[in-house]
Amino acid sequence: MRIKRVQLTNFRNHNESSLEFSEGVNFITGANAQGKTSILEALSYVCLTRSFLQQSDSSVARLGGDNFAVDAAIETDKNVVNKVRVAYETGTGRKYLLDSNEVRRSSDVIGLFPIVVLSPGDFALTGGAPSERRVFIDIVLSQVSRSYLEELTEYRRALKQRNKILLDGKLNNYLDGDLLSAWTDALISHGKKIVARRNSFVDEFSGIFSAAYRSLIESGESPSLKYEPSFALEGDVDAAFRNTLTGLSKIERARGSTLAGPHRDDIGFFLNDMPIKEFASQGQHKTFLVALKVAEFHYIKHKLGETPAMLLDDVMTELDFTRATKTIRTVAGLGQVFITATDMLSFDERMVDMQDVKYHSVKDGSVVYEHA
Ligand SMILES: Nc1ncnc2c1ncn2[C@@H]1O[C@H](COP(=O)(O)OP(=O)(O)OP(=O)(O)O)[C@@H](O)[C@H]1O
Ligand SMILES: [Mg+2]
Repeated sequence: MRIKRVQLTNFRNHNESSLEFSEGVNFITGANAQGKTSILEALSYVCLTRSFLQQSDSSVARLGGDNFAVDAAIETDKNVVNKVRVAYETGTGRKYLLDSNEVRRSSDVIGLFPIVVLSPGDFALTGGAPSERRVFIDIVLSQVSRSYLEELTEYRRALKQRNKILLDGKLNNYLDGDLLSAWTDALISHGKKIVARRNSFVDEFSGIFSAAYRSLIESGESPSLKYEPSFALEGDVDAAFRNTLTGLSKIERARGSTLAGPHRDDIGFFLNDMPIKEFASQGQHKTFLVALKVAEFHYIKHKLGETPAMLLDDVMTELDFTRATKTIRTVAGLGQVFITATDMLSFDERMVDMQDVKYHSVKDGSVVYEHA
């Protein structure tokens, strides 16, 4: 899909900004704090119904006002142009309109206009806690599979209940064994499906990821991913999960929480078989991250049959010239791309032979010029 144009009204520091996009690469440039990230955030609203920055709608409404709107024209791979409007007002909240019809469930929209976002907040994905990597898998799988999202919701419910029973047991010195066993069954029933899906996902994703990484570097680095579930994945997943919980039951009761299951999973990220968390340089972390997102692009495109747009916020810092050039060239070949940056000169040298490039310059919440 391609975003053809967007209009931001009272959106962060934008009063009224309209942009017409290229189907190829769109550079959004300007000094710090002028409104570049806000434009990507607006695109996230029309494509995913919400901000990728995980902030409240009220913080997005322009200071001093109580509403905002984003209007966009989005063309799918089948060349159908959809008119999308997201409108927020204090009191009534946020509305999502697709061709003037209100869509109430965001799951009815997610997947229609897929985007892959890479923003500074994603840095934690390679260097941060395991929960960051679980969120990554969950977001990718949820975009391509509604049933995965449903299993996840059920799993979280079972986990919450089971934790409550264990904690109550610890605090009151009395544990309802039947209730615990019922929630253990529910936990295993949903958890085993999540573990199986994640396992096959990492298998399939690894190859796509390695190819993406290699396209971003000269040579000499061999990346790999490894799914690290909280229990050994041997034979029957159901039995393996149950046996692990049985083995942990004393500690679980002492601590008052569930100690095995998908909520304790991780994916190991390696370069030349060494964990990147401990050994990789800043640039290698960044390359790893870009490769994960490029792989996410290919995976989603393959599964959904719709080409995602790439939103890259502040990606070029910390990459040397070779890696930055390869990154731009790699993503430019994928489809529609939006890249924000403070410095435009360095792009021009790399862009000379590139098709479909458009520059949008942003100053103080306004688009001061656009040129192809
Ligand atoms: N609700 C709001 N109303 C008005 N201004 C806002 C609102 N929320 C954020 N801002 C301001 O909007 C400006 C633009 O923010 P944005 O994140 O888009 O900048 P940017 O161009 O991406 O900058 P940087 O290069 O530093 O990342 C900032 O000065 C920010 O403080
Ligand atoms: Mg920014």
